[in-house]
Formats: sequence, C-alpha cells, structure tokens
Amino acid sequence: MSNVIELRQVDKTYKGPPDVQVLFGIDLSFADGSFNSIVGESGSGKSTLMNIIGTLDTPTSGDVVIAGQHTGRLGRDKLAELRNRTIGFIFQFHYLLPEFSAIDNVLMPHVIGRQRPSSEVLEWASELFELMGISKVKRNPATRMSGGQQQRVAIIRSLINKPKIILADEPTGNLDSVNTAITYERFRDINQRYGTTFVVVTHDRRIAEQTDRIVEIRDGRMVLDINT
Ligand SMILES: Nc1ncnc2c1ncn2[C@@H]1O[C@H](COP(=O)(O)OP(=O)(O)O)[C@@H](O)[C@H]1O
Ligand SMILES: [Mg+2]
Repeated sequence: MSNVIELRQVDKTYKGPPDVQVLFGIDLSFADGSFNSIVGESGSGKSTLMNIIGTLDTPTSGDVVIAGQHTGRLGRDKLAELRNRTIGFIFQFHYLLPEFSAIDNVLMPHVIGRQRPSSEVLEWASELFELMGISKVKRNPATRMSGGQQQRVAIIRSLINKPKIILADEPTGNLDSVNTAITYERFRDINQRYGTTFVVVTHDRRIAEQTDRIVEIRDGRMVLDINT
C-alpha cells in the first residue's frame, strides 16, 4: 500500500518570545486506506501535528507530502485546493453554522467556488444522511438538533467531497459513550466502504485499541508506534 501521508523530520517551533518547540523530528507515514489513532497527554503536540498534516499550519522544518504532493512547494491557492479536495476535518467542536440547515452545512465545502450543488452531490449527501441515520433532521437548522446529531452532520460534511483522508481531532470529546461507540462504528464503515484513510486523535485507550495502528506522542516526540 502506498502512503497517502508522509512526514519527514518535522519540527515545529511556535515563535515567541519565548520560542517553544513542540514537535521534534517526527517521521511518520500513513498508508492509503488505513485506520489510525494518535494518543498522548494533553499538551503533547497532537493538535499541532494534526494541523500540520492537514496543511492548516506549516512545519518549522521538514517535509509534508500529502497524496504525493510536496506541500512545501505549493502556493497558497494550490495548497487550499489540495486541502479542500483531499482532506476532510472533524473536530471536537464541530462549528456548524447555526442559521443554516443540516443539508446546507453539509454542502458548504462543496459549493465553495461553485454556483450550486450538482445532482450527484445531492444524492451523495442523501446517502450519507441515510448511513448516519439522521435523514429526518436534514432540513433542521443546526440549533434544532441534539449534540450527537450535530456531530454526525459534521461527519457528513467532512465526507462530502469524498476526501482520501479524514483527520479527526478528539471528534467524540463531547459525546456520551454510546454516541462515541456509534461514531467509531460509522468511521470504520466509511473506511471500509470507501477506502478513506483515517487519522484520529483520541485520549480514550479503548477507542485507540480498536484502530489498526496506535501512534503515541509524548512531549513532541513519537514514543510508540504499534500495529494492533
Ligand atoms: N499557537 C500556539 N502558540 C504557542 N504555543 C502553542 C500554540 N498552540 C499550541 N501551543 C503549545 O504547544 C504545545 C502542544 O499543544 P497541542 O498541539 O495543542 O497539544 P495537544 O493537542 O496534544 O493537547 C502546548 O504546550 C501548547 O501550549
Ligand atoms: Mg489537542
């Protein structure tokens, strides 16, 4: 299997003063279609690493290759295009636009730079609403859905452009254990159906143990990399 994500000797220092180095020589690749977790204590550098993988932030030194593209060599527009086409993001706080309906929130990444959604994408959205079991709230504004439903809307939104990669940073941090379990089953389902690569940050060991690979970060360094 080829690698869809490759980090080579990635360092990250947040500029101060004082300067704070939070990542040290991260060499990390993820195979296309794999299902991976990143664990580590709070403040260990997980979100910084995810932002760099997602090209939302740049390393101080080192290379980031996403779907074969050396991101350091891309200009702003090309980088945004790669990101929008290749990567879906799911965060703990899902940032749905409250005045918009579930379906309009979902279509947001698709309609950026376009006139209106195609019939194909509307069908794809319907399929995803079915898969997530929330077809009945499709027209509800974000404010008229439960936390679990909103989270599922955010998951659908991350998938709308059929990205090769899903990056999820503590995606179930505000869900109860039942909804957490359901969410992970759905991630797995999407991973198996569409071959989407998942990198999920979690502080829940039991969740991590269900993934194919666990990478542990401690104080900005990779200290563990196990195939489960
Ligand atoms: N924008 C920033 N500027 C300066 N320091 C930051 C910034 N973002 C994160 N940090 C610091 O970097 C370290 C790693 O943070 P983070 O990547 O958010 O860790 P985690 O997600 O594992 O909790 C922490 O010490 C944090 O305070
Ligand atoms: Mg974090």
